[in-house]
Amino acid sequence: MTNNAKYFDDLVNERRSVRVYDQEAEFDHASVQRSLERATLSPNSSNMQMWEFYRVTSEDLKKEVAINCMKQKAATTARELVLFTVRPSLWSERAEFNLEEMKKGFEKKSLSEKDQNRALSYYQKLVPILYKNDRLGIRSFGKKIFSWAVGLKRPMVRQVSKKDITVTLHKSVALAAMTFMYSMKSEGYDTCPMEGFDSKRIKKILNLPKDAEISMIIGCGPAGEGGIYNERVRVPNDKVIFEV
Ligand SMILES: Cc1cc2nc3c(=O)[nH]c(=O)nc-3n(C[C@H](O)[C@H](O)[C@H](O)COP(=O)(O)O)c2cc1C
Repeated sequence: MTNNAKYFDDLVNERRSVRVYDQEAEFDHASVQRSLERATLSPNSSNMQMWEFYRVTSEDLKKEVAINCMKQKAATTARELVLFTVRPSLWSERAEFNLEEMKKGFEKKSLSEKDQNRALSYYQKLVPILYKNDRLGIRSFGKKIFSWAVGLKRPMVRQVSKKDITVTLHKSVALAAMTFMYSMKSEGYDTCPMEGFDSKRIKKILNLPKDAEISMIIGCGPAGEGGIYNERVRVPNDKVIFEV
């Protein structure tokens, strides 16, 4: 095992969901900012980065949000709460960003015009087809039919509906959440991811954009006494890891 693997092994084994935080111990809020900046480097679908992270630091807001995390101790005692959200409406802005970055990249390496156009068409054509949706789900239905028909003849991506894209966004932000939690652990602090909250009320309290979907709220800080509720249990590895 390399030293990096040993360090990572320790980090993974030591990270636990901590439900009680120490109110007196020193807490460096800058570690949250650093960890979020690391989280933005997480892999994400098509590098679309359709995520936003909201830090709740003021005592008043933290209290209100914690009440709407069903008063879970992991929230009421957290020294800071971080919302991991996705924004489906950001797709065109993000596609444009990637397109511009791609064009800048072309200036540095020589690519034939044909290859450049092929690369650009990913964000110019494919991404809009996948990400553009309507309220009634008409486009979504059309994409499902198209994918099914093409899939009769050759391998085809099947997850093309509006709902599938929502899953895609939450997958990506969940990876960012994981990076964040390991980063916080490496900074000497603990975390607890939560999905037990009233998303509607919290969106209103924090005045979040209309299309924002809260994937997880993560409580963080220095662990308090009794913050780990029980021994860690997992089903046996041979029940979940298969060589096929
Ligand atoms: C998506 C997600 C949602 C979770 N929601 C909550 C929650 O609302 N409240 C809570 O106390 N723990 C929550 N957890 C923490 C899990 O209960 C915890 O990760 C699991 O029991 C394994 O324990 P460990 O994290 O200490 O290894 C959540 C975890 C995940 C990944």
